[in-house]
Amino acid sequence: MTIADTTTFPLRFELTPSTDAREEAEREVILADPGFGQHFTDHMISIDWTIQDGWHNASVVPYGPLQLDPSAAVLHYAQEIFEGLKAYRHEDGSIWTFRPEENAKRLQRSAHRLALPELSVDDFIESLKQLIAIDGAWVPSAPETSLYIRPFMIANESFLGVRPSQKVGYYVIASPAGAYFSGGVAPISIWLSTEYSRAGRGGTGAAKCGGNYAASLLPQQEAYEHGCAQVLFLDGETGSHIDELGGMNIFFVRSDNTIMTPRLSGTILEGITRDSILQIARDRGMEVEERDITIDEWREGLESGLITEVFVCGTAAVIAPVAALKSDGFTIGDENAAAGELTMSIRKELTDIQYGRIPDRHGWLTRLDEPGAEGAGAGAGAGA
Ligand code: PLP
Ligand code: COI
Repeated sequence: MTIADTTTFPLRFELTPSTDAREEAEREVILADPGFGQHFTDHMISIDWTIQDGWHNASVVPYGPLQLDPSAAVLHYAQEIFEGLKAYRHEDGSIWTFRPEENAKRLQRSAHRLALPELSVDDFIESLKQLIAIDGAWVPSAPETSLYIRPFMIANESFLGVRPSQKVGYYVIASPAGAYFSGGVAPISIWLSTEYSRAGRGGTGAAKCGGNYAASLLPQQEAYEHGCAQVLFLDGETGSHIDELGGMNIFFVRSDNTIMTPRLSGTILEGITRDSILQIARDRGMEVEERDITIDEWREGLESGLITEVFVCGTAAVIAPVAALKSDGFTIGDENAAAGELTMSIRKELTDIQYGRIPDRHGWLTRLDEPGAEGAGAGAGAGA
């Protein structure tokens, strides 16, 4: 079932500034060592939806707890979706994000799958601009840092029947971010889950919904217990080929100028970093293969020298080299292996585009701050 967006006009945002915003000195201490997902900016976006009124009450409000009735549908049936993107500060101080229309469209696809209402691409992008207008000073400027932006949508109607919620909230929060993995860009080992799947045919694997991540936590815990940073899942139907990780897509670099990644089978997330890497590889004249890849192909490819590098990618992780795959009874690769050369070179090209250090030849960047605004406060409440 699809719930149509009944809103046909751009939303206007009302601003309620925080009376408790952090002082510059306190913010600078946080920005100097942000970690990942530990600190949040002073404001957030909130937009309501009801089946009667469509999207309304678009507002920029102080960051703070949400009030939910204990019977709110999201708490019982996990009718929830989210997105993840980053704001990058360029050398001239301006603030940009990467392919936000792709996140907006993916949020719409996730909404469709979870029977939630779709927010327009324009309103999605405006919601990011509104948050940056008031909290732009939270975008750090040190190398490899950014402001991670987390839009999400929850079913907040109070009732216990199992049906799509007729009342929904869309929110955007933001968190200054350094490296996702504690070791920075050092190669990671990943754990192959042979017992658990994250997605099945006809399920929600291609949607960015909380339930997928809930299902990944036990195997992710298993990964940590084996000294691995992430868990890798096989396809749920045959258990024969590689799907993706708990929060990232995976790539293989071959010695014959080819890069390969699992095809979009409907059970993996259509990663925007994945798509951008495929484009960068094509731009370099590389062959690109999107198809089923097995663990045996990985093992044999490493042994024969055909597979030279493995890496994982996502907005939070950017591109992380993979040293080894571990599982019950076997290890593929060498846990102490160095980062692959092509991996690091694609990583550099991608981040050079994101941080405005090289031309944006594909038109992937969208400016989030008002030209000339630079900093907190300017522009919020101006409306869409
Ligand atoms: N796969 C999963 C399960 C993810 O959570 C993510 C992160 O968003 C990705 C892949 C990579 O997607 P993207 O590159 O759009 O961030
Ligand atoms: C992202 O990369 O944006 C994600 O949502 C993945 C998660 C591991 C933080």
